[in-house]
Amino acid sequence: MRSLGPATLNPTALVNEAWIKLSNSPGLSVTSELHFKRVAARAMRQLLVEAAQRTEAELRQAKEAAEQASRQKSEFLAKISHELRTPLNAILGFSEVMRLERFGEIPNDKYRGYVNDIHASGAHLLSLINDLLDLAKASYDQAKITFKELRLDEVLLDARSGVIRSNPSYKVDIFFEREIEEGDFISINGNEYLLKVAFSNIMENACKFSSDHACAVTIGFREKKTMLRFSDRGIGIRPEDLSHIFTPFYRGGNKNFASGNGIGLSLSAKIIHLHHGCILVDSKVNEGTTFTVELSR
Ligand SMILES: Nc1ncnc2c1ncn2[C@@H]1O[C@H](COP(=O)(O)OP(=O)(O)O)[C@@H](O)[C@H]1O
Ligand SMILES: [Mg+2]
Repeated sequence: MRSLGPATLNPTALVNEAWIKLSNSPGLSVTSELHFKRVAARAMRQLLVEAAQRTEAELRQAKEAAEQASRQKSEFLAKISHELRTPLNAILGFSEVMRLERFGEIPNDKYRGYVNDIHASGAHLLSLINDLLDLAKASYDQAKITFKELRLDEVLLDARSGVIRSNPSYKVDIFFEREIEEGDFISINGNEYLLKVAFSNIMENACKFSSDHACAVTIGFREKKTMLRFSDRGIGIRPEDLSHIFTPFYRGGNKNFASGNGIGLSLSAKIIHLHHGCILVDSKVNEGTTFTVELSR
């Protein structure tokens, strides 16, 4: 974009400069300095206003173009993720049948190992695609995401069921800091699907980065806010990783402890921000980690 600097120009200085040049030109009769300066300053101001208006229109156009590009990118990501899932389901389904040797034994050990690898890689790819699909959904135009009145404790319970269904060894306990009173903000206006994705990701991280595979979620209230605390007594996050963990595809120095693709937290943060909330992290290596999510009506 062109960079105009009308706001930094000083019309009075420009007019004075023009006057000095004009009054020094030989053979030119200038009768009224005041009149000249007034007319010139008015013209100059008009020019500056027009330049500022042009800059504003250009900025608006650039913003609209950027928003449209971002929408197109999300829609593309959603379409491609959907297309990838179909062949992947065949890979997963058939390799599962072979792995279980449903239609007869696989005599060669190497082949048996390969089939297991194909299935594990397929499962990893599917989880990556699902995360990308959710990331695309969360990146859509906010106007396209439907919001409705929902209870945060119900969404948390739903997320907990999903996490435990996929990983039966995980433990997630949900506590209320105190009994809910009138005026407490347990209900918010939100998107149930996206909030469930965010809460599941944070719960799953807490369990997978802890040797006891446990996560404690506390629901508390502060003024007009609901605070959700997800705590674990796991391996913790190195201080140098803390400012990067919300970046897409970033995995911390502790990544070898558990498998993953580095999308979960960036996706969760995006979803919380879509709900005008905030997410904070506090962690000590070998002691544990707490993610706090603050949401308000
Ligand atoms: N509860 C946690 N305990 C320890 N490390 C965590 C925890 N949650 C997140 N992290 C760190 O943040 C990184 C990014 O998290 P995430 O985006 O969910 O990716 P992934 O789970 O696929 O590794 C993780 O790789 C890990 O280093
Ligand atoms: Mg994760």
